[in-house]
Amino acid sequence: MSKSIKLAILGLGTVGTGVINLISDNLDELKRRSGRDIIITEVGTRRQRDDIDPDITQNSDLMAIAASDNVDIVIEVIGGTTLAKDIILHAIKNGKHVVTANKALLAEHGNEIFALAEANNVHVAYEAAVAGGIPIIKVMREALAANKVDWLAGIINGTGNFIMTEMRDKGRPFAEVLAEAQELGYAEADPTFDVEGIDAAHKLALLASIAFGIPLQFDQVYCEGITDITLQDVNYAEELGYRIKHVGFAVRRDGNANSDGTDQTHSDSAGIELRVHPTLIPQNTLLANVNGVKNAVLVNSHPLGQTLYYGDGAGAGATASAVMADVMDLVRVLGSEADSSHSETNHGHHVPHLGFIPDQLSDTPILRAEQMITGYYLRVHAYDNPGVLADITRILSDAGINIDAILQKPAHKLGQVPVIILTLPVVESQMNLAIEKIEKLEATTGKVIRIRLDELA
Ligand code: HSE
Repeated sequence: MSKSIKLAILGLGTVGTGVINLISDNLDELKRRSGRDIIITEVGTRRQRDDIDPDITQNSDLMAIAASDNVDIVIEVIGGTTLAKDIILHAIKNGKHVVTANKALLAEHGNEIFALAEANNVHVAYEAAVAGGIPIIKVMREALAANKVDWLAGIINGTGNFIMTEMRDKGRPFAEVLAEAQELGYAEADPTFDVEGIDAAHKLALLASIAFGIPLQFDQVYCEGITDITLQDVNYAEELGYRIKHVGFAVRRDGNANSDGTDQTHSDSAGIELRVHPTLIPQNTLLANVNGVKNAVLVNSHPLGQTLYYGDGAGAGATASAVMADVMDLVRVLGSEADSSHSETNHGHHVPHLGFIPDQLSDTPILRAEQMITGYYLRVHAYDNPGVLADITRILSDAGINIDAILQKPAHKLGQVPVIILTLPVVESQMNLAIEKIEKLEATTGKVIRIRLDELA
């Protein structure tokens, strides 16, 4: 067998330990597939660990590992955007290929990191950064390379999906389910990243860039989490044939419809919508039935049409699988010759970091929230007076907003009735104006609860 490939694993948390276990469990298969011996030469860990093979060097100096002659590929699984960034930049400058699961780092600093990697003729691979074990990066960059992507919709945070599923199916309280997700190793070090939608926004920024060939623009992603979703709205949505899911959307808008401006509800700006938020989707879609820690990404592309990718979105085994898939790609890039020095690296066989040639990335604008187009679920609290429903529907119809369904529940408190309204797609700015007027009606009380709605068609 040719010369061994030497790996360094930086970080021995859930993912790092998962990678060590995977290599030990599947070593024969890895060797048979790659034609190489794959060995872990160094691990980066703050504390010496007794459970690590004594042949592996344990080192708390991660920068030294990133430059070590005894390492071909650096696997960064410490997370965070400060030390991890320094280490990855250092590894790249020292000619190392990098495999990372760090979506926050790439979403925020990926443009800089990928540019440095290209300048240094090395690769930064990141399959594990998005949707856990689902090989969505490989699919988007390679298998769908002949297609033009119109939109994608993804359940891309396992923790959030697990919480929403347990709340809906078992009525379990939010905090209890979150604690379980943390114990199972699904949640981020800071779980607010999961429940506030930030983790999904990181992943969406990456997916959108490889879908549309645009630079990474995490700061442009519209982001809402799941913390305000109540069981009451979950149940009303179900009654109307919908399910509330936390979904990331990247949508290309060509700006053709109603460009004369006559229809304010649909006047369509050209650009890309990047948004993560709770949304109602039809119960009978596959995406609505993605439960627990599972993730799924639905891609609508031309000429292929819709394809769906599904699997575990978090956890040790799923993430280690994605990390090692990248390692296997890099082993092949490193060439099968006895000498694996980087002068022999076959870069021509590796796809660009964002799937498009770097100088061909487009500057298509990212749309502002007020320009985005979705349907809506509205929950209005109204006094049980004659004509109140007429007042509400008149405001919507004056704004040109098309009502798709209405559900009015019997008065339950002080003569107030919850009125649930589903609308067809409308530009957000138009909906904002209508809601403002509804809230000012004498016959309504409190804030209108709004959740977006997407038919996924
Ligand atoms: N915290 C993330 C999730 C881990 O729950 O999806 C995988 O990225």
